[in-house]
Amino acid sequence: MLNVKFFLFLLTLILLNVVKCKYVYETKLFQVPLDHFGYQRNETFNIRYLVNEDNWDRGGGPIFFYTGNEGQIETFAQHTGFMWDIAADYRAKLVFAEHRYYGKSMPFGDKSLNKEHIGYLTSSQALADYADLVNFLQGDRMRPRYPVIAFGGSYGGMLSAYFRMKYPHLVTGAIAASAPVHMYPDMVPCEVFHRIVTSSFKIASQKCVDNIKSSWSELRTFLGSQNNSDWIKTKWNLCEPVKNATDVQNLLDYLQTMYETLAMVNYPFQSDFLMPLPAQPVRVVCQYLTDKFNGTQLFEAIGKVIEVYANYNRKPDCVNYTNTNYGNLDASGWDYQACTEMIMPMCTTGKDDMFEPSPWNFTTYAEGCHKKYGVYPRRDDARIQYGGDRIKAASNIVFSNGLLDPWAGGGILNSISSTVTAVVIIDAAHHLDLMPANPNDPEPVKMARNIHRQNIDKWLREFREEQTKRP
Ligand SMILES: *[C@@H]1O[C@H](CO)[C@@H](O)[C@H](O)[C@H]1NC(C)=O
Ligand SMILES: *[C@@H]1O[C@H](CO)[C@@H](O)[C@H](O)[C@H]1NC(C)=O
Ligand SMILES: *[C@@H]1O[C@H](CO)[C@@H](O)[C@H](O)[C@H]1NC(C)=O
Ligand SMILES: *[C@@H]1O[C@H](CO)[C@@H](O)[C@H](O)[C@H]1NC(C)=O
Ligand SMILES: *[C@@H]1O[C@H](CO)[C@@H](O)[C@H](O)[C@H]1NC(C)=O
Ligand SMILES: *[C@@H]1O[C@H](CO)[C@@H](O)[C@H](O)[C@H]1NC(C)=O
Repeated sequence: MLNVKFFLFLLTLILLNVVKCKYVYETKLFQVPLDHFGYQRNETFNIRYLVNEDNWDRGGGPIFFYTGNEGQIETFAQHTGFMWDIAADYRAKLVFAEHRYYGKSMPFGDKSLNKEHIGYLTSSQALADYADLVNFLQGDRMRPRYPVIAFGGSYGGMLSAYFRMKYPHLVTGAIAASAPVHMYPDMVPCEVFHRIVTSSFKIASQKCVDNIKSSWSELRTFLGSQNNSDWIKTKWNLCEPVKNATDVQNLLDYLQTMYETLAMVNYPFQSDFLMPLPAQPVRVVCQYLTDKFNGTQLFEAIGKVIEVYANYNRKPDCVNYTNTNYGNLDASGWDYQACTEMIMPMCTTGKDDMFEPSPWNFTTYAEGCHKKYGVYPRRDDARIQYGGDRIKAASNIVFSNGLLDPWAGGGILNSISSTVTAVVIIDAAHHLDLMPANPNDPEPVKMARNIHRQNIDKWLREFREEQTKRP
């Protein structure tokens, strides 16, 4: 269960094998302390960062710094086209820093995620790595010459905002796209994510929502019979039959993850962000779910949805509905973070959403974490560390959210001050504004990118004014 939910947050991880290398960069290593916050463990290790200086004005051009999130950094470099699109205009150097414990930035090699080594995986350690790296990139100067703008999407967006909050002397401003900084316990209702998933489907068709909503109990009844399980295996091209209650639950979890993912990556163009999908995938799959169905017709229709989700533009393969970890280490890393500080309660009610009701219970959740990693989550840590919804003292941050994005439910949708501002993008899914410009982009996302540029202009101007005032 835990895995299925948190897979969602692993935005980009799964596409690792599909990434087309559009952009060119140099890969470098930077030495960081294992533990920034104590002096007894003095080991160090290397984090990776990617650099492109093709457009850089070495005399004082800005550094655009991507605060890497939970995955290998190439993925974020390849999918944050906005930074590449504007680099020439700003004569900027591009830097993409890899988050410790992801990709190849492993302090203990392939043993890093073992219980005895994983303890140095925290957001604050990662931010301290980024701070050291920025200090180094600025030539270890007391008075840096290069203004730094932080960028990030999703958890990376949270990090870019937190980076500016915690290290304002190093970072001039931050573009925090689709950053669910309010998704922590008690800050927003736990059902908000699935309510937005449902409304994204509702925009495509109310009938589609009704059909999905009624499918859960119909499927449970249907799968109760052994013969029907064989039928489903054949019709849905499943790798494994649905033999018992655990299998049924896994299959239903797979379907729920499918709908959640389709809502997240409901982009106006064909994309391979999480997996190859057609443009406007929610609308595409809802085309199959608008009829009034009779008997097994509904299940046949859902079979077509699964085909789009699992096999679009790919070599047809059987559907492995038990595979929730996608076979890379990154999922484990995020699971651990979700079990310590990054606690984001998720539930469904079956009332305002199209899913079966499923409550969230901190006690149960915490026990699961303890069993898995030997740690108990501290439910309020992240809010206390990063300010929750009391961040008026911060400055120079843009929080952007697409209203089609389920994560917007935990995002900042209203400006907090004149320098901590919200950009709300109707018609946009998960951090569409950070993606490369595309002819199919809706007008609002173009406007959002213009607002980003205006803010960057302003922050750079401020930096330079400040610089000229100095003796
Ligand atoms: C770590 O400390 C040990 C002594 O406790 C010392 O020999 C070693 O050089 C130190 N390593 C670093 C990287 O500072
Ligand atoms: C289930 O399938 C088996 C073998 O195909 C068949 O013999 C049996 O009659 C079926 N049972 C029902 C209830 O349809
Ligand atoms: C259900 O079947 C799967 C294999 O299909 C098996 O791994 C699992 O242990 C079974 N669970 C129960 C509760 O019988
Ligand atoms: C459902 O389909 C069956 C077989 O195709 C048909 O006999 C029946 O009338 C249909 N029922 C409805 C309510 O359409
Ligand atoms: C499905 O995925 C699970 C989990 O990764 C894996 O253990 C299993 O071997 C896979 N099954 C098939 C048929 O690929
Ligand atoms: C959460 O689960 C625990 C243990 O199963 C139970 O004692 C507690 O009453 C539950 N809390 C809520 C709010 O449902």
